Amino acid sequence: MNNKSIIFVCLGNICRSPIAEGVAKKYALENNLDIIVESAGTGSWHVGEHPCPDSVKIARMNNVDISKQIARQVKKEDFSKYDLVIGLDSSNIQNLKNLGCKNPIKLGDYGYEGDDVPDPYFFEGFEGFDKVFEMIDICVRNLIKKEVEGK
Ligand code: 4NP
Repeated sequence: MNNKSIIFVCLGNICRSPIAEGVAKKYALENNLDIIVESAGTGSWHVGEHPCPDSVKIARMNNVDISKQIARQVKKEDFSKYDLVIGLDSSNIQNLKNLGCKNPIKLGDYGYEGDDVPDPYFFEGFEGFDKVFEMIDICVRNLIKKEVEGK
């Protein structure tokens, strides 16, 4: 069951999927899981950038360091390289399908009845980032428990 690889995909790879990557890597470390975790965006606007300051801040408030991550764009090879391709909202899932990913999974299916993780890029200020973090945190843990640990 171990040794799985997971890629989290949102639109810009600077707000939501970096949080998912950080939470998953921390969970894996704490639970001695030998998994590969990455994140990417379907868009290219922010390639090479660090995560947005409010995502770095809410992650740090929850003892997760995402500050050193670098945004990249998802590529077709990722769909065969990773066992699990996880979209953060339904438009990410649609974009992934359009790019040729056959079986993207929605993160919200793991604890939020399939809800979209809201895109905080257009939030006014920091308000709302706590909810985004909480949703990602719960769903990522549930996902790994089920799909990696078989619990
Ligand atoms: P993310 O947020 O998909 O959670 O990284 C966004 C970041 C950038 C843009 C949209 C969403 N953008 O339009 O540049």
